[in-house]
Amino acid sequence: MSKEEIKKKIQALSEELNKHNHAYYVLSAPTISDFEFDQLLKELERLEKEHPEFAFDNSPTKRVGGDITENFEKVTHIYPMLSLSNSYSKEEIIDWENRIKKLSETAPTYVCELKYDGVAIGIRYNNGQFDKAVTRGDGTQGEDVSANVRTIKSIPLQLQGNYPEQFEIRGEIFFPLKRFEELNRQRIEQGEPLYANPRNTASGTLKQQNSSKVAERGLDCLLYGVYGDNLNFENHSQAVAKAGNWGFKVPTEKQNYIRVCQNIDEIMDFITYWDTERKNLPFEIDGIVVKVDNYRQQDELGFTAKSPRWAIAYKFKAETAETILEEVTYQVGRTGAITPVANLQAVLLAGTTVKRASLHNQDQIEKLDLHLGDSVYVEKGGEIIPKIVGVNVDKRPANAEVVKFIERCPECDHELLRKEGEAQHYCPNEMGCSPQIRGKIEHFISRKALDIDGLGPETIDLLYQNKLIKNYADLFDLSFDDFYDLERMADKSANNAIQSIASSKEVPFERVLFGLGIRHVGETVAKKLARHFVHIDKLQNADLESLIAIDEIGEKIAESLIDFFSKEENKEIIERLKQHGLQFEINNPVEIKETLNNQTFVISGVFKNVSRNELKELIEQNGGKNTGSISSKTNYLVAGENMGPAKLAKAEKLGVKIISEDEFLEMIK
Ligand code: IVH
Repeated sequence: MSKEEIKKKIQALSEELNKHNHAYYVLSAPTISDFEFDQLLKELERLEKEHPEFAFDNSPTKRVGGDITENFEKVTHIYPMLSLSNSYSKEEIIDWENRIKKLSETAPTYVCELKYDGVAIGIRYNNGQFDKAVTRGDGTQGEDVSANVRTIKSIPLQLQGNYPEQFEIRGEIFFPLKRFEELNRQRIEQGEPLYANPRNTASGTLKQQNSSKVAERGLDCLLYGVYGDNLNFENHSQAVAKAGNWGFKVPTEKQNYIRVCQNIDEIMDFITYWDTERKNLPFEIDGIVVKVDNYRQQDELGFTAKSPRWAIAYKFKAETAETILEEVTYQVGRTGAITPVANLQAVLLAGTTVKRASLHNQDQIEKLDLHLGDSVYVEKGGEIIPKIVGVNVDKRPANAEVVKFIERCPECDHELLRKEGEAQHYCPNEMGCSPQIRGKIEHFISRKALDIDGLGPETIDLLYQNKLIKNYADLFDLSFDDFYDLERMADKSANNAIQSIASSKEVPFERVLFGLGIRHVGETVAKKLARHFVHIDKLQNADLESLIAIDEIGEKIAESLIDFFSKEENKEIIERLKQHGLQFEINNPVEIKETLNNQTFVISGVFKNVSRNELKELIEQNGGKNTGSISSKTNYLVAGENMGPAKLAKAEKLGVKIISEDEFLEMIK
């Protein structure tokens, strides 16, 4: 292919992939299979790698993320990002509507929308191209989170149709509930505490330093406002509908997510409908926003200091119920984490019967000053699991016993520990505490770890009760008869179990490492460690300092690793697993050279010959270290094109050596 043909091919592929993304993520009507999509994407990735000069800034390949973003740059909003005035009763909405009518020359038309419970975002477009995504910040200045927002597939990078040359679109980024629940299931698998609610998790995700992590999370976005000069729209509802034509995911009348209303009765109908129906939405909302539709009337009404007069939010009441606290019990997780649970007299809340509420930790119990028999308020707000928000002290029975956090493990009676700076208690008796033992084995066999699918939690339970296993290494000593003798095990299942245990010996090192169930070592960290150390022996012998020196490994993880490998029992288990032939090294590691002599690099900007990821890999493969931001410890700044001036100034101030891409490539030649 000639250069011109390659350029055209890259453009055509980008356009085609953009169309499929829109069909899948905005219209929910895919036109090709996932497989076909991946094939096209791979083809584009290959071409862009060979000809980086033709790759678009907004290429669909940027959706997978990857680069470690540095501190987010501050950006001043072109239009201040204000908030809405809130109201909590229908009377307040009636008062507002009366005021609006009086202030307007002609009877206003209104638009009712959902109040999405997420994170506000303003996205700028230039000539149909995604330019910048900025958080709300303090309303005047926000943070540039473009790299992360680009990974949200329902946000178009290239617009279609008849869009204005320059404008900003605003909306709310949120965590779809299904994805949030999935994420928390993974957290359970990894023995980590659960994320409390979708909104905070969405906000945390947007501030992630590594955009590939954002891409995995599956955030979504609904748009609710178009801003710009000379946009030529008369009404807000018209602008929102038009934005849908340009490729944005906007609320539609068909879904009843947005409604043009002529009077207060129609507004009230919308509010009443969603007050009950909101529990069936695939995302969370915390109210309804009512806006004056006509832009000229909006201008006339203007703003107060903080919010527009032309809009008001009706906030739903978080549903609460009052019931009796009967008992506090404690659950022990796979990693020994203790979670207190409030056992309640059954009560109806937001359509479901609630008997239990999460209490998180000791501090929470003390803050509420809980007593047994207390009359407590339970609330189902953003959280999936209801929580106790207060106590009706007037109803406290005489001589009620204060709830005192347990000191010993409810399962094995071992003394509990609470590490400094951590909120949770742990049972340190890993090897002798039944839920920890079973939990660790269940984790070991799980799909993302050793994937021993011939076994399930019930079989693990039976094996454990029959004293056939007490750790995961014991699985490899089991015979056909051991399984066959178990209740309900047929010939075929016993064979299956033996077979799948045997095949797990082929599972690569990084998944074995994840399967060991070391606290704070999830899938990604395991992968990182495996690649860095190549062999378990090196990881086992690593000290705190060398662990922390690894990109993205913090003190918490490092301490947990040291703790795990210092225990004789764990050493013995690993030795036995090795004897059984499990994978404890990477077979074809990339050879790490010493060329860069452990020196520290920061990369910034865009490069001609290599992608940022490739550059980072080259640094690591040549024995250098990557860090996200410049400090006095940085040895080199590899400067690409379009590098931020602030970074350059900082490097100069700290005397960091600034080198070009070519100079770097020369260094490792
Ligand atoms: S309009 C002048 N519409 O609520 C403010 N905001 O307190 C114009 N929000 O920061 C905002 N859904 O992030 C508007 N349909 C909606 C909304 C919405 C959620 C958020 C938004 C804003 C906050 C206002």
